[in-house]
Amino acid sequence: MRLLIIGGTRFLGRHLAQQAMDRGHELTLLHRGRSNPGLYPQAEHILADRDADLSALTTPGRHWDAAIDTCAYFPRQVRALGAALAGRVGHYQLVSTISVYAEFTQPGQDETAPLATLAEPEVQAVTGETYGGLKVLCEAAAREHFGDRCLVARPGLLVGPHDPTDRCTWWVRRMLRAQAQAADSEVLAPGDPAAPVQCIDCRDAAAWMLLQAERGTTGTINLDGPADPTTMGAFLESARAALAPQARLSWVGEAFLLAQGVAPWSDLPLWLPQASSAMHQVSIARALATGLQCRPMVQTLADTAAWDLSRPPLAEGAMRPAVGLAPERERQLLEAWRGAAEGGPRVR
Ligand SMILES: NC(=O)c1ccc[n+]([C@@H]2O[C@H](COP(=O)([O-])OP(=O)(O)OC[C@H]3O[C@@H](n4cnc5c(N)ncnc54)[C@H](OP(=O)(O)O)[C@@H]3O)[C@@H](O)[C@H]2O)c1
Repeated sequence: MRLLIIGGTRFLGRHLAQQAMDRGHELTLLHRGRSNPGLYPQAEHILADRDADLSALTTPGRHWDAAIDTCAYFPRQVRALGAALAGRVGHYQLVSTISVYAEFTQPGQDETAPLATLAEPEVQAVTGETYGGLKVLCEAAAREHFGDRCLVARPGLLVGPHDPTDRCTWWVRRMLRAQAQAADSEVLAPGDPAAPVQCIDCRDAAAWMLLQAERGTTGTINLDGPADPTTMGAFLESARAALAPQARLSWVGEAFLLAQGVAPWSDLPLWLPQASSAMHQVSIARALATGLQCRPMVQTLADTAAWDLSRPPLAEGAMRPAVGLAPERERQLLEAWRGAAEGGPRVR
């Protein structure tokens, strides 16, 4: 198959590109050449800013069997791509997100759940408040332009090697620190160990997306993992067992953490308060029915650790994403929790 990936050099797109080549597809990548320049010399690269000039897609004779769009954040980007690719592409797949849903109050929410709306649909900034609503508009633009050849994939939290957000990676690093330094062996585990958790290895998401491009699947499908529901306790225990057998998990109550100003999702990645836990219980029945396979979490964690350890040191002045508690703050929280009048630590 001749496959066009918009993006393809960073995280999800990077894995898609690798797997597409592994499966013998003829690959074209369109990107600006900023992220990981020089990656995949064996593919065709169209260096272009999708916001400025897509004329390279419209030269006579160009045609792709499928296009996967990994980096559309504004509906105008999808419309411009739709116009450039008119008559030049078969299947079109948009990478959307489960953040399109208006709210997460019901566990097991499927693809028919109500969608977010934007007070200002023309907004030009992607923020925590606008991201989901803008993706809803991207989805509508994709259906308008690509009609019955369009698949909208809605991933949940993507994890694994090359993750630029450092969310799951923070837990991996935290466990490795617990193993390396006895003083850091007590790991603050947030909330309820029985709380649900969903995330999907980016390589499994890429494999499923590629399969759908090969099959020409259409519609709208949530893309999350693992196949069997899991919990924060199981996730952290897997990480502990695989990476830091000497670590001890100290479970700290949700109300205490929130009162201390600890931010769910960013200060302690993956952790959501109970009121938002439906976000970690999205229905993935359609993805499983169409061939989604999820590798064991321990494999994701081990591969993420190996990738993280292989990363070159950051250039001077460069910053990694600001996620995860600083060690001192984590120690203070553990001490305060221990000293709290009611409820002590539950150490396992
Ligand atoms: N991370 C998660 O947990 C998560 C969860 C749900 C959904 N998603 C969705 O998954 C996708 C993330 O995939 P990703 O990490 O591979 O992609 P990404 O980081 O959003 O995009 C990066 C790719 O797009 C290219 N790109 C960015 N802006 C461009 C532009 N203006 N013109 C041309 N190319 C451009 C980049 O190359 P250059 O920089 O060289 O141009 C790079 O190849 C996004 O759509 C996101 O909304 C992510």
